[in-house]
Amino acid sequence: MNQNIKLRVSQIEKSFPGVKALDKIDFTVKKGSVHVLCGENGAGKSTLMKIINGVYQPDGGQIFIDEKPVKINNPIQARNLGISMIFQEMNYVPEMTVEENIFLGNLPVGKLGNVDWKEVRRRTTDLLKKEHLPYSPTTLLKDLTVSDIQMLEIIKAVSYNSDIIIMDEPTSAITLKEVEKLFTKIRELKARGVSIIYISHKLDEIFQIADEITVFRDGTVVESHPKEELDIETVIALMVGRKLTNTYPKEEIKIGDDLLKVEKLNNSNVYHDVSFHLKKGEIIGFAGLMGAGRTEVMRSLFGLDPITSGKVTLKGKEVKIKSVRQSIENGLVMLSEDRRRYGIIPVRSVKENTTLSFLQKVFYKLRLHNKVEKNIVSDMFSKMRVKTPSLETTIQSLSGGNQQKVVLAKWMVRNPDILILDEPTRGIDVGAKFEIYKLMTNLAQEGKAVIMVSSELPELIGMCDRIYVMCKGTITGEISRKDFSQELIMKYATGTLISNEVN
Ligand SMILES: Nc1ncnc2c1ncn2[C@@H]1O[C@H](COP(=O)(O)OP(=O)(O)OP(=O)(O)O)[C@@H](O)[C@H]1O
Ligand SMILES: [Mg+2]
Repeated sequence: MNQNIKLRVSQIEKSFPGVKALDKIDFTVKKGSVHVLCGENGAGKSTLMKIINGVYQPDGGQIFIDEKPVKINNPIQARNLGISMIFQEMNYVPEMTVEENIFLGNLPVGKLGNVDWKEVRRRTTDLLKKEHLPYSPTTLLKDLTVSDIQMLEIIKAVSYNSDIIIMDEPTSAITLKEVEKLFTKIRELKARGVSIIYISHKLDEIFQIADEITVFRDGTVVESHPKEELDIETVIALMVGRKLTNTYPKEEIKIGDDLLKVEKLNNSNVYHDVSFHLKKGEIIGFAGLMGAGRTEVMRSLFGLDPITSGKVTLKGKEVKIKSVRQSIENGLVMLSEDRRRYGIIPVRSVKENTTLSFLQKVFYKLRLHNKVEKNIVSDMFSKMRVKTPSLETTIQSLSGGNQQKVVLAKWMVRNPDILILDEPTRGIDVGAKFEIYKLMTNLAQEGKAVIMVSSELPELIGMCDRIYVMCKGTITGEISRKDFSQELIMKYATGTLISNEVN
C-alpha cells in the first residue's frame, strides 16, 4: 500500500444523455501535492470532480481515500470525508448575504436546535477580517463583483479544513493580486499535507503551481506526468491532439472610417472623461487591472448602465443610449463577463439561448421558422466547435467553456457592426480560443469592428490594432500595435505612467 496516495479513482465511468463524459478513468492524487487537470472544453474534468465531491454518482468504478473504498452520495458526505470543492460555475443567489453564502448547508445550531446567527456573524466577521476583505457579513452578493464572489468561494472552501480541495478554474475571474494570494494559500495548504486538485485553462499558471499534470481528452486520460517532464507546447499538443503553430490569427486589414466615437464620457463615481474611437476593420483592446472601470464603460455603451455626461457618435450620428434594445438595433452588442448573471437562461435549450438575440431574423410569417433557426445555429456551432449532444440540450448541462461559446454564438449570429467582448476567452480551451480570434478577424474583414476587454495581455497584444489602458476610472494611455509591450501596458494600468495625449 502506498502511504503517499491520498485519493485514487479507478475505472470511473459516467454517461449523460447523448454523451459518454468519462470512460474508465484512473487517476491518483498524492498527499500534500497539487495535481493539475487540463483538457479541452467538454473533456470531462468537472464531471470527474463532481463525482469525487458527491454531486454525481458514477455509472461504474470506485473511489478510494487513503486506499479505503468509499461511496460518496452527496457533497455533505464528501465534506465529512475531508473533501471540499470550489465550483467552476458560481451558482449564487443574488439576494443572499455574504454570511448566508458562507454558511449555507453548514449553519451552526444552538442548544435549542435553532440556528445560532450570532455565531454565524462572529465567524464571518473573523474570516473577512483575516482575509482582509472590505465588505461586511450582511453585504448582498448582488452588490459584489464577480471577482469578489469567486474569492469568497475560495475562502469558503478553504475554511472547512479539508484534506482534499478541488479547485475548478478558481482564477477565471480574480485579479492578479488575488491569484498571488491564492497561490500563497495553496503553498501553505500543501505544506500542511493537503492535496489539491486544480483545473485551469491558463497554461502559464498551471506550470507555476503544479506538481503533477494530467491531461484529459474526450472523457479519457491521455497522459499523466510530474510537471518537470512536461512543457507548455507538449501539454497543448496532448490536449488538442495536434500541434498549434499560430496562436493569434491576426491579419492586416484595411482600416476605414470611424464607426464609434466616444467623447468625455462620464458616469459620476464610476469612470470619468473617457474618450476613444473605433474604426471599421479595427480590433481595439481595453487593458487595465480589475476594477479600472473597463466593464463599466462598456456596460454604459450597451445601455445597461447610465451615462451622466458625454457624447457618443455611432456611424456618424450622435446617439443617446437609452436601452440595450436600442443598442442592439443600432448594431452594437456586448458579451458580458458574467454569463451567469447576464448571459444565459440556464434551463432553456442551447438553440433557444443562441437565437434569443435575433428572434426577428428567424420569425418568419409570424412563427418561429424552425429550419432557418436550426441551420444558422448549427453553422455557427460547427465554426466555433461547440460540443453539445444536440441543439435541444439545456445550456446548463454543457461544460463551462461550451456555455461561453454559446453566449458568444448568440451575438455572432446577429452579425453586429460593433461587437464588445468582455473577457471572451475566460474558461475557453486553447483550440477554441483560436476559433474565437478567427471569428473576430472575420468580423473586422467585413468592415465591422471589435472591442475586446481582457485581462490576458498576450491576447490583447496578439489580436489588437490599438490598445487603450484604463486606471482608476479613466484612460491613462493609448498604444498602437507597433509599440505594444506588456511593460508599457502595465505602466499605464498601474498609473505609474499617464500619457498627455489622451483626454
Ligand atoms: N448535467 C449534465 N447533463 C448532461 N450532460 C452533461 C452534464 N454535465 C456535463 N455534461 C457533458 O459531459 C461532458 C463533459 O463535461 P465537463 O463539464 O466535465 O467538461 P470540462 O472538461 O469540465 O469542460 P470545461 O473546460 O469547458 O469546463 C460534456 O460533453 C458535457 O456536455
Ligand atoms: Mg469544467
